[in-house]
Amino acid sequence: MNSVTVSAPGKLVLFGEHAVVYGRGAIVTAMDQRVRVTIEASEQSDVSYELPNGMDDRFVRAAVEQTLVEWKQPLKGFLVRTSCAFSESFGFGSSSAVVGATVMALREWFGRKDTKEDLFKRAVTAIRFVQGKGSGIDAAAALFGKTVYFRMNGPVVEPMILSPLPLVVGYSGQKADTPSILSEIAAKMTAQPERVNRIYDAIDTIVTEVKPKLLEGDFERVGKLMDFNQEYLRDLGVSSEKLEAMIAAAKKAGAWGAKLSGAGRGDSMIAVAPEEKRRAVEQAIESVGGKVIRILHNTEGAGVEA
Ligand code: MEV
Repeated sequence: MNSVTVSAPGKLVLFGEHAVVYGRGAIVTAMDQRVRVTIEASEQSDVSYELPNGMDDRFVRAAVEQTLVEWKQPLKGFLVRTSCAFSESFGFGSSSAVVGATVMALREWFGRKDTKEDLFKRAVTAIRFVQGKGSGIDAAAALFGKTVYFRMNGPVVEPMILSPLPLVVGYSGQKADTPSILSEIAAKMTAQPERVNRIYDAIDTIVTEVKPKLLEGDFERVGKLMDFNQEYLRDLGVSSEKLEAMIAAAKKAGAWGAKLSGAGRGDSMIAVAPEEKRRAVEQAIESVGGKVIRILHNTEGAGVEA
Protein backbone atom coordinates (compact mmCIF):
# COMPACT_ATOMS: atom_id res chain seq x y z
CA MET A 1 0.00 0.00 0.00
CA ASN A 2 1.42 3.41 -0.97
CA SER A 3 -1.11 5.56 0.82
CA VAL A 4 -4.39 5.51 2.71
CA THR A 5 -6.85 8.36 3.34
CA VAL A 6 -9.44 8.38 6.12
CA SER A 7 -11.93 11.15 6.82
CA ALA A 8 -13.86 11.87 10.03
CA PRO A 9 -16.65 14.34 10.76
CA GLY A 10 -16.74 17.37 13.02
CA LYS A 11 -19.52 17.44 15.63
CA LEU A 12 -22.12 19.49 17.39
CA VAL A 13 -23.01 18.74 20.98
CA LEU A 14 -26.81 19.04 21.10
CA PHE A 15 -27.28 18.57 24.87
CA GLY A 16 -25.23 17.83 27.97
CA GLU A 17 -21.79 19.40 27.38
CA HIS A 18 -19.64 19.82 30.51
CA ALA A 19 -21.95 17.58 32.58
CA VAL A 20 -20.72 14.72 30.36
CA VAL A 21 -17.15 15.24 31.66
CA TYR A 22 -18.52 14.30 35.11
CA GLY A 23 -20.30 11.12 34.10
CA ARG A 24 -23.69 12.45 32.97
CA GLY A 25 -25.32 11.71 29.61
CA ALA A 26 -25.05 13.93 26.52
CA ILE A 27 -26.18 13.91 22.89
CA VAL A 28 -23.85 14.65 19.99
CA THR A 29 -24.35 14.68 16.24
CA ALA A 30 -21.78 14.32 13.45
CA MET A 31 -21.75 16.88 10.65
CA ASP A 32 -20.96 16.90 6.98
CA GLN A 33 -17.77 18.96 7.27
CA ARG A 34 -14.85 16.59 7.71
CA VAL A 35 -11.15 16.35 8.37
CA ARG A 36 -8.94 14.15 6.21
CA VAL A 37 -5.82 12.27 7.20
CA THR A 38 -3.57 10.66 4.59
CA ILE A 39 -0.69 8.36 5.42
CA GLU A 40 1.85 7.71 2.72
CA ALA A 41 5.19 5.94 2.47
CA SER A 42 8.26 8.05 3.17
CA GLU A 43 11.99 7.43 3.22
CA GLN A 44 12.56 9.92 6.07
CA SER A 45 14.26 8.74 9.24
CA ASP A 46 11.24 9.73 11.34
CA VAL A 47 7.48 10.16 10.89
CA SER A 48 6.86 13.52 9.20
CA TYR A 49 3.74 15.68 9.34
CA GLU A 50 2.12 18.12 6.92
CA LEU A 51 -0.62 20.11 8.61
CA PRO A 52 -2.59 23.16 7.52
CA ASN A 53 -1.16 26.44 8.83
CA GLY A 54 -2.06 27.00 12.46
CA MET A 55 -3.34 23.48 13.15
CA ASP A 56 -2.24 22.22 16.58
CA ASP A 57 0.07 19.29 15.80
CA ARG A 58 0.06 17.83 19.33
CA PHE A 59 -3.10 15.79 18.75
CA VAL A 60 -2.00 14.00 15.58
CA ARG A 61 1.48 13.42 17.01
CA ALA A 62 0.07 11.94 20.23
CA ALA A 63 -2.22 9.63 18.23
CA VAL A 64 0.65 8.41 16.03
CA GLU A 65 3.26 8.08 18.76
CA GLN A 66 1.05 6.30 21.28
CA THR A 67 -0.26 3.87 18.67
CA LEU A 68 3.19 2.98 17.37
CA VAL A 69 4.54 2.47 20.88
CA GLU A 70 1.58 0.19 21.69
CA TRP A 71 2.15 -1.80 18.51
CA LYS A 72 5.94 -1.83 19.01
CA GLN A 73 6.49 -0.27 15.59
CA PRO A 74 9.41 2.04 14.76
CA LEU A 75 8.56 5.74 14.48
CA LYS A 76 9.41 6.05 10.80
CA GLY A 77 8.48 5.01 7.28
CA PHE A 78 5.56 7.31 6.58
CA LEU A 79 4.27 10.83 6.28
CA VAL A 80 0.97 12.04 7.81
CA ARG A 81 -0.91 14.77 5.97
CA THR A 82 -4.05 16.35 7.40
CA SER A 83 -6.63 18.81 6.12
CA CYS A 84 -9.78 20.25 7.64
CA ALA A 85 -12.88 21.46 5.76
CA PHE A 86 -13.91 23.86 8.51
CA SER A 87 -12.27 26.47 10.70
CA GLU A 88 -10.81 25.08 13.90
CA SER A 89 -12.29 28.11 15.67
CA PHE A 90 -15.88 26.94 15.24
CA GLY A 91 -15.59 24.42 18.08
CA PHE A 92 -16.68 21.56 15.84
CA GLY A 93 -14.12 19.18 17.35
CA SER A 94 -11.41 19.33 14.69
CA SER A 95 -8.72 18.02 17.08
CA SER A 96 -10.76 14.94 18.01
CA ALA A 97 -11.73 14.36 14.39
CA VAL A 98 -8.04 14.43 13.41
CA VAL A 99 -7.23 11.95 16.17
CA GLY A 100 -10.14 9.68 15.17
CA ALA A 101 -9.13 9.72 11.51
CA THR A 102 -5.46 9.19 12.38
CA VAL A 103 -6.03 6.08 14.51
CA MET A 104 -8.21 4.59 11.78
CA ALA A 105 -5.67 5.44 9.06
CA LEU A 106 -2.94 3.75 11.13
CA ARG A 107 -5.11 0.63 11.47
CA GLU A 108 -5.42 0.49 7.68
CA TRP A 109 -1.75 1.25 7.08
CA PHE A 110 -0.58 -1.52 9.42
CA GLY A 111 -3.36 -3.93 8.34
CA ARG A 112 -4.65 -4.35 11.90
CA LYS A 113 -8.10 -5.57 12.91
CA ASP A 114 -9.01 -3.08 15.67
CA THR A 115 -12.72 -2.39 16.06
CA LYS A 116 -14.18 1.11 16.23
CA GLU A 117 -14.43 0.60 20.00
CA ASP A 118 -10.67 -0.09 20.16
CA LEU A 119 -9.99 2.98 18.03
CA PHE A 120 -12.26 5.08 20.24
CA LYS A 121 -10.32 4.09 23.40
CA ARG A 122 -7.03 4.88 21.72
CA ALA A 123 -8.33 8.23 20.47
CA VAL A 124 -9.58 9.26 23.92
CA THR A 125 -6.22 8.38 25.49
CA ALA A 126 -4.41 10.59 22.96
CA ILE A 127 -6.86 13.48 23.44
CA ARG A 128 -6.56 13.34 27.24
CA PHE A 129 -2.78 13.17 26.96
CA VAL A 130 -2.81 16.54 25.16
CA GLN A 131 -5.62 18.41 26.87
CA GLY A 132 -5.66 16.81 30.32
CA LYS A 133 -9.39 16.25 30.61
CA GLY A 134 -12.23 15.40 28.27
CA SER A 135 -15.18 13.06 28.11
CA GLY A 136 -14.39 11.65 24.67
CA ILE A 137 -17.73 12.82 23.26
CA ASP A 138 -16.06 14.53 20.27
CA ALA A 139 -14.14 11.34 19.47
CA ALA A 140 -17.38 9.33 19.70
CA ALA A 141 -18.95 11.58 17.06
CA ALA A 142 -15.81 11.40 14.90
CA LEU A 143 -15.61 7.61 14.94
CA PHE A 144 -19.23 6.42 15.26
CA GLY A 145 -20.90 9.31 13.43
CA LYS A 146 -24.69 9.88 13.15
CA THR A 147 -26.30 11.04 16.41
CA VAL A 148 -25.49 9.30 19.65
CA TYR A 149 -26.37 9.40 23.31
CA PHE A 150 -23.02 9.25 25.07
CA ARG A 151 -21.82 8.56 28.60
CA MET A 152 -18.18 8.40 29.55
CA ASN A 153 -18.43 5.50 31.95
CA GLY A 154 -18.78 2.31 30.05
CA PRO A 155 -18.48 4.09 27.73
CA VAL A 156 -22.08 4.16 26.53
CA VAL A 157 -22.43 5.04 22.84
CA GLU A 158 -26.09 4.58 21.95
CA PRO A 159 -27.10 5.38 18.36
CA MET A 160 -30.25 7.49 18.06
CA ILE A 161 -32.31 7.11 14.92
CA LEU A 162 -33.61 10.58 14.33
CA SER A 163 -34.79 12.53 11.36
CA PRO A 164 -32.75 15.70 10.79
CA LEU A 165 -33.46 18.52 13.21
CA PRO A 166 -34.42 21.98 11.98
CA LEU A 167 -31.11 23.31 13.28
CA VAL A 168 -29.56 26.74 12.81
CA VAL A 169 -25.87 27.07 13.73
CA GLY A 170 -24.14 30.36 14.50
CA TYR A 171 -20.44 30.96 15.13
CA SER A 172 -19.65 33.61 17.73
CA GLY A 173 -16.37 34.73 16.15
CA GLN A 174 -14.48 33.82 19.32
CA LYS A 175 -12.47 30.64 19.71
CA ALA A 176 -13.00 28.86 23.01
CA ASP A 177 -9.98 27.59 24.90
CA THR A 178 -11.45 24.21 25.88
CA PRO A 179 -8.57 22.93 28.09
CA SER A 180 -8.52 26.11 30.19
CA ILE A 181 -12.34 26.16 30.53
CA LEU A 182 -12.24 22.51 31.62
CA SER A 183 -9.57 23.28 34.26
CA GLU A 184 -11.56 26.23 35.53
CA ILE A 185 -14.67 24.07 35.87
CA ALA A 186 -12.62 21.37 37.61
CA ALA A 187 -11.53 24.00 40.18
CA LYS A 188 -15.16 25.03 40.62
CA MET A 189 -16.11 21.39 41.17
CA THR A 190 -13.48 21.15 43.93
CA ALA A 191 -14.57 24.42 45.55
CA GLN A 192 -18.34 23.96 45.29
CA PRO A 193 -19.08 20.30 44.57
CA GLU A 194 -22.72 20.44 45.69
CA ARG A 195 -23.57 23.41 43.52
CA VAL A 196 -21.85 22.05 40.40
CA ASN A 197 -23.27 18.55 40.88
CA ARG A 198 -26.74 20.03 41.26
CA ILE A 199 -26.31 21.78 37.89
CA TYR A 200 -25.04 18.59 36.27
CA ASP A 201 -27.86 16.47 37.68
CA ALA A 202 -30.37 18.97 36.29
CA ILE A 203 -28.68 18.82 32.87
CA ASP A 204 -28.73 15.02 33.03
CA THR A 205 -32.49 15.12 33.65
CA ILE A 206 -32.92 17.39 30.61
CA VAL A 207 -30.90 14.97 28.46
CA THR A 208 -33.07 12.06 29.61
CA GLU A 209 -36.24 14.00 28.82
CA VAL A 210 -35.06 15.21 25.42
CA LYS A 211 -34.09 11.77 24.05
CA PRO A 212 -37.66 10.64 23.20
CA LYS A 213 -38.60 14.18 22.11
CA LEU A 214 -35.81 14.16 19.54
CA LEU A 215 -36.96 10.79 18.24
CA GLU A 216 -40.61 11.87 18.07
CA GLY A 217 -39.68 15.14 16.35
CA ASP A 218 -41.33 17.24 19.07
CA PHE A 219 -39.15 20.24 18.23
CA GLU A 220 -41.14 22.71 20.28
CA ARG A 221 -40.30 20.74 23.43
CA VAL A 222 -36.73 20.16 22.20
CA GLY A 223 -36.40 23.97 21.93
CA LYS A 224 -37.75 24.51 25.44
CA LEU A 225 -35.29 21.93 26.78
CA MET A 226 -32.46 23.73 24.93
CA ASP A 227 -33.45 26.88 26.79
CA PHE A 228 -33.36 25.05 30.14
CA ASN A 229 -29.99 23.48 29.30
CA GLN A 230 -28.67 26.95 28.41
CA GLU A 231 -29.83 28.37 31.77
CA TYR A 232 -27.71 25.78 33.58
CA LEU A 233 -24.70 26.40 31.33
CA ARG A 234 -25.02 30.12 32.05
CA ASP A 235 -25.17 29.35 35.75
CA LEU A 236 -22.05 27.21 35.40
CA GLY A 237 -20.32 30.28 33.93
CA VAL A 238 -19.51 29.04 30.43
CA SER A 239 -21.69 31.35 28.36
CA SER A 240 -20.57 34.73 27.01
CA GLU A 241 -22.19 38.05 26.16
CA LYS A 242 -21.89 37.34 22.46
CA LEU A 243 -23.43 33.87 22.74
CA GLU A 244 -26.25 35.27 24.87
CA ALA A 245 -26.92 37.99 22.29
CA MET A 246 -27.06 35.42 19.47
CA ILE A 247 -29.32 33.11 21.48
CA ALA A 248 -31.67 35.95 22.45
CA ALA A 249 -31.80 37.21 18.84
CA ALA A 250 -32.58 33.71 17.51
CA LYS A 251 -35.43 33.28 19.96
CA LYS A 252 -36.85 36.72 19.32
CA ALA A 253 -36.92 35.89 15.61
CA GLY A 254 -39.01 32.78 16.24
CA ALA A 255 -36.67 29.92 17.22
CA TRP A 256 -38.25 27.34 19.53
CA GLY A 257 -35.11 27.43 21.66
CA ALA A 258 -31.35 27.91 21.55
CA LYS A 259 -28.18 27.16 23.48
CA LEU A 260 -24.43 27.21 23.20
CA SER A 261 -22.83 24.06 21.81
CA GLY A 262 -19.50 22.70 23.03
CA ALA A 263 -17.17 24.22 25.57
CA GLY A 264 -18.78 27.69 25.58
CA ARG A 265 -17.26 31.18 26.12
CA GLY A 266 -17.15 31.39 22.35
CA ASP A 267 -17.33 28.78 19.59
CA SER A 268 -20.88 28.21 18.36
CA MET A 269 -24.53 28.26 19.33
CA ILE A 270 -27.41 26.20 17.98
CA ALA A 271 -31.13 26.87 17.68
CA VAL A 272 -34.13 24.86 16.55
CA ALA A 273 -36.59 26.84 14.48
CA PRO A 274 -39.66 26.22 12.33
CA GLU A 275 -38.68 26.06 8.66
CA GLU A 276 -40.64 29.21 7.80
CA LYS A 277 -38.69 31.15 10.45
CA ARG A 278 -35.25 29.85 9.49
CA ARG A 279 -34.30 32.85 7.36
CA ALA A 280 -35.43 35.34 10.02
CA VAL A 281 -33.51 33.43 12.72
CA GLU A 282 -30.37 33.37 10.57
CA GLN A 283 -30.65 37.11 9.90
CA ALA A 284 -31.20 37.81 13.60
CA ILE A 285 -28.04 35.87 14.51
CA GLU A 286 -26.08 37.83 11.91
CA SER A 287 -27.56 41.14 13.03
CA VAL A 288 -25.79 40.75 16.39
CA GLY A 289 -22.48 39.82 14.76
CA GLY A 290 -22.76 36.02 14.58
CA LYS A 291 -21.82 34.03 11.49
CA VAL A 292 -24.38 31.50 10.29
CA ILE A 293 -22.83 28.19 9.26
CA ARG A 294 -24.92 25.94 7.06
CA ILE A 295 -24.21 22.32 7.80
CA LEU A 296 -25.86 18.95 7.51
CA HIS A 297 -25.82 16.81 10.62
CA ASN A 298 -26.47 13.15 11.52
CA THR A 299 -23.77 12.15 9.01
CA GLU A 300 -21.40 9.16 8.73
CA GLY A 301 -18.53 8.56 11.14
CA ALA A 302 -14.88 7.97 10.22
CA GLY A 303 -14.29 5.91 7.11
CA VAL A 304 -11.66 5.01 4.57
CA GLU A 305 -11.81 7.17 1.45
CA ALA A 306 -8.95 5.78 -0.59
C1 MEV B 1 -16.70 19.83 24.11
O1 MEV B 1 -17.16 19.55 22.80
C2 MEV B 1 -17.63 19.20 25.10
C3 MEV B 1 -17.19 19.36 26.58
O2 MEV B 1 -18.18 18.69 27.34
C4 MEV B 1 -15.84 18.75 26.84
C5 MEV B 1 -15.82 17.24 26.78
O3 MEV B 1 -16.86 16.60 26.88
O4 MEV B 1 -14.71 16.69 26.65
C6 MEV B 1 -17.18 20.81 27.00
